[in-house]
Amino acid sequence: MKEEKLRELLGKMSLKEKAGQMFQASGSLYDENSVLTGPMKESGFTEENLELAGSVIGVQDAAAMRKLQERYIRQHPHGIPLLFMMDVINGYRTIFPIPLGQGASFAPDLTRRCAEAAAREASASGIHVTFAPMADLVRDARWGRVMESTGEDPFLNGLFCQAMVRGFQGDHVGESGRLAACVKHFAAYGAPVAGRDYNTVELSEHTLREYYLPAYKKGVEAGAEMVMTSFNTVNGIPATGNEYLMRQILRGEFGFDGVLISDWTAIEELIAHGYCEDRKDAAYRAMRAGVDIDMMSGIYPEWLCRLVESGAVSMEAVDQAVWRILCLKNRLGLFENPYKDAGETAEKKLFLCSEHRALAREAAARSFVLLKNDGVLPLCPETRVAWIGPYTDTRDLTGSWSFTGDKSAVSTIREILPEYTAHTEGCPGCPMLDPEKDLRTLTEKQMEFPSLAERERMMREAESCAKKAETVVLFLGEHPMQSGEASSRTKPVVPKIQMELFRRVSRVNSNLVVVIFSGRPLEIREISEKAKAVLVVWLPGTEGARAILETLMGERTPEGKLSMSFPWDTGQIPVYYNEDPTGRPDLEEKKEDRFRSRYLDAPNGALYPFGFGLTYTRFRVSPVQLDSSVLYPGETLKASVILENTGSRQGTETLQLYIRDVSASVVRPVKELRDFRKVTLLPGESREVTFEIREEQLRFWRADGTFGSEKGRFQVFIGQDSSVREFENFELL
Ligand code: GLC
Repeated sequence: MKEEKLRELLGKMSLKEKAGQMFQASGSLYDENSVLTGPMKESGFTEENLELAGSVIGVQDAAAMRKLQERYIRQHPHGIPLLFMMDVINGYRTIFPIPLGQGASFAPDLTRRCAEAAAREASASGIHVTFAPMADLVRDARWGRVMESTGEDPFLNGLFCQAMVRGFQGDHVGESGRLAACVKHFAAYGAPVAGRDYNTVELSEHTLREYYLPAYKKGVEAGAEMVMTSFNTVNGIPATGNEYLMRQILRGEFGFDGVLISDWTAIEELIAHGYCEDRKDAAYRAMRAGVDIDMMSGIYPEWLCRLVESGAVSMEAVDQAVWRILCLKNRLGLFENPYKDAGETAEKKLFLCSEHRALAREAAARSFVLLKNDGVLPLCPETRVAWIGPYTDTRDLTGSWSFTGDKSAVSTIREILPEYTAHTEGCPGCPMLDPEKDLRTLTEKQMEFPSLAERERMMREAESCAKKAETVVLFLGEHPMQSGEASSRTKPVVPKIQMELFRRVSRVNSNLVVVIFSGRPLEIREISEKAKAVLVVWLPGTEGARAILETLMGERTPEGKLSMSFPWDTGQIPVYYNEDPTGRPDLEEKKEDRFRSRYLDAPNGALYPFGFGLTYTRFRVSPVQLDSSVLYPGETLKASVILENTGSRQGTETLQLYIRDVSASVVRPVKELRDFRKVTLLPGESREVTFEIREEQLRFWRADGTFGSEKGRFQVFIGQDSSVREFENFELL
């Protein structure tokens, strides 16, 4: 629709209609087979609220969408079409690895392709907007939603956030097979105190700007159509009512002119936070912050008209919000075609098509991180292997945001074993969780807890299997419902009963490979000590089982690198690579000095640090060479190494460039990722790899609150992970 027509439409709308556009209702209030992703309060919405709502969340198929859209447009006073929104986080019907696994691929373009495929499937089901990418930086593995993040590094997160926005939106959201993206959760939702979901966030302005904001900004710069407010406070003010965050930073500094939507009932939660007196006050404060859409609290349709009539909120403010919403509908082409790509034929053609399955398998395999391998991997098909563990027999491999996926399309490892080896003996060995309720959110009726006698029988069966085998592969990990929203854990470890299985099996067969499924970094020190090989596979998605077996059998070679550190002990959490040096760093040459920044009972560093990951071959990296010892602004400085494959198999190494600003107006971290390169080499092959360093990469939030670089000495590291120690110096002049 032409802009002037759209302006005319806005001018014809009643205030009640405008307030309706600013409200999003759950699809379950219109259509029984919609999905609920938040706490369903007794709805309390009027028929009129639903008739005038501007968007719905959770309607999940083309037929239902078309039926609802047709009915809705027919009864709407101006026939304004609904926006259909949904959490399409890591896939729609075909499920890709969880985002934390995608981050470990260090392959943003692969993620862009996954987002494109997800958009094709979801838009065929009538969805217009996805509530993704989640761009929250994470450092605390106790927080269950680290599984939705791409990790602890702002530079890497920014690349993945951009990739997802571009994958979902393409060049224009009105194109077929595209979705509008919604960058979330603004801001700093990933930094809750004590890792407890929805908890307080307290960050210095410096830390907020240096670490937590950059990835959101990259998403806005990539053209994201929407941003979602976060549940948490930031330094005492809830994000959803936070004018500084939303008006000054998001709209002012970032230049975001898209639609700002609250998280589920987050406007109403301003009252529980103690920030607003009542619903009327919450409506007022959310408007002051510039929230355009109220997701599911019903406060906007209840109070906006009265606030405008009383003069507390201007009609202009309401018109600005409604205009942004109408423009988004217009860019999606909904006024010309309110059904966009929705079609059952398209669904049948796209859902789980071979192209998407192949992509899901590639993405899964490239997300895996090989943490240890004493030569036991890859396996030979002739090796007598016992395949044991609760994850051997489950289809639940897709993570907590895969409710639109098709579990029946997910193979279990056990059922496809015969395609890879004749030795298929094995057993579950134990249930996934302890009866002492590892989970507070799973109840007896949701989870079978076998009797004590049955559990002992399962353990003995596993011991017997293990005894007869040359090698044991154990498939272990936290339950899928132990990660995701509202799934914080004080001790991110493998469930107790699975550790008992691990110990009993390792006593009868030390030739042990452990495959770990998880939505977060776990403390796996005992497993790491006793197992001959450890492969982290996250929650790998629809094609996870095949990707795992192809990797274990050597058809694929692991290449993933951790995008979030694995702690040596849970007591270290939050542990991350880009920490500040402190005045008493724990240096090797000072190890006799008691008064250093270190623990008495643990090392400072992670068990497996950011950027770490092995392959089935070995690589050697030469010392870094710089083509100059000085860098002038506007020029580039070249940093090179020779990478050599010294092993016997082809492999892909992800070389990482880190920089340290040795002294500055604020302390700078011990190192920061500034670039990386994936290099595939044949056995014996070597290659010079060169990075270009520019002044722009040295900029940071300085003591005076401005963003820029400062002259002085810098250290350059190029290595295989963030623990690299050798460096060369240069000076910025
Ligand atoms: C949830 C999540 C958010 C999601 C929204 C809609 O509470 O916090 O990430 O997009 O509600 O499902």
